[in-house]
Amino acid sequence: MKEVSSLSINKKNTVLNSATLYQKRKFSIASFISNCFYKIYHWMEDKFLERKNVDLSRLNLIRQCDKERLNDLDFLEKDLLPALGLNDEFIEAFPTELHAHCGKGVFHWQYPNQFSKYLCFLSQFNIRSYLEIGIRWGGTFLIILEYLKRFGNIKRAVAIDFIDSPIIEKYKQQEPIVEFYRYDTQNEIFRDFINKQPSFDLVFIDGDHSQAGCFYDFNSLYDNAKIITFHDIVDDHWKGVGRVWKHIKEEFSHIYDFHEFIDQYESIQKQSGLSCLGIGVAVRKGTF
Ligand SMILES: C[S@@+](CC[C@H](N)C(=O)[O-])C[C@H]1O[C@@H](n2cnc3c(N)ncnc32)[C@H](O)[C@@H]1O
Repeated sequence: MKEVSSLSINKKNTVLNSATLYQKRKFSIASFISNCFYKIYHWMEDKFLERKNVDLSRLNLIRQCDKERLNDLDFLEKDLLPALGLNDEFIEAFPTELHAHCGKGVFHWQYPNQFSKYLCFLSQFNIRSYLEIGIRWGGTFLIILEYLKRFGNIKRAVAIDFIDSPIIEKYKQQEPIVEFYRYDTQNEIFRDFINKQPSFDLVFIDGDHSQAGCFYDFNSLYDNAKIITFHDIVDDHWKGVGRVWKHIKEEFSHIYDFHEFIDQYESIQKQSGLSCLGIGVAVRKGTF
């Protein structure tokens, strides 16, 4: 990775060069095969996965809450975020005390002890545009949007996934600032799309979790985002994201200020010894 650090990263082309170098160094037959499996897995998901029955009415919990409470970390972590409903596709990663909230509501794939701090952190910025790569059932996207609506002047929210999202299509009818696009972000078509967009205030990267895929997404958004957030930076099941995050912290520290929300649940750590999820935020210096 050392040669990447010597490159200037002021121009987009140079960043692309650094990505190519990075990917070349990491390329191996094993990573090629795992990438193929990854693509086949997602293709099968798109075709055969049963879509979750998301309950949009849960979002009223955010709408009805006063702003002071929405900045109360303890309330967010212990009450609001569990009540909004958590994902249940990998329930072993959630502590048993949260299981009653899994498979319900908006199915957000977040640890409340990390997400609460991230949301409070975001409330200090006036975020006007948001892009999320990899929305799954829309949980995190919907919560972030509803939360930002209470604190700033958000004018545009773009959701990207390569599986369809009937729930975001439905939500769009009540919230016209939302756009949903079915893109594979590893495809040039997505890069062309991004290059035609005005810069986003906030981007959340939670799509392709392979090292090359995650870095490719970062590269696509590098010139077009003030804040770039990565999900799963400490997750032992998706180590590629952690490697990319470490690389960006090492090589881009003159461009970004970094913040991490990586609290764990003791019961999970004791049980499996593994770390899960983790939110890493890179805020471009001088932009807010
Ligand atoms: C972990 S889930 C996202 C969870 C969601 N952000 C949340 O917190 O509720 C990852 C999503 O990324 C999508 N995805 C993976 N690779 C992608 C790609 N190359 N382009 C677009 N979407 C992708 C998957 O279809 C999946 O829905």
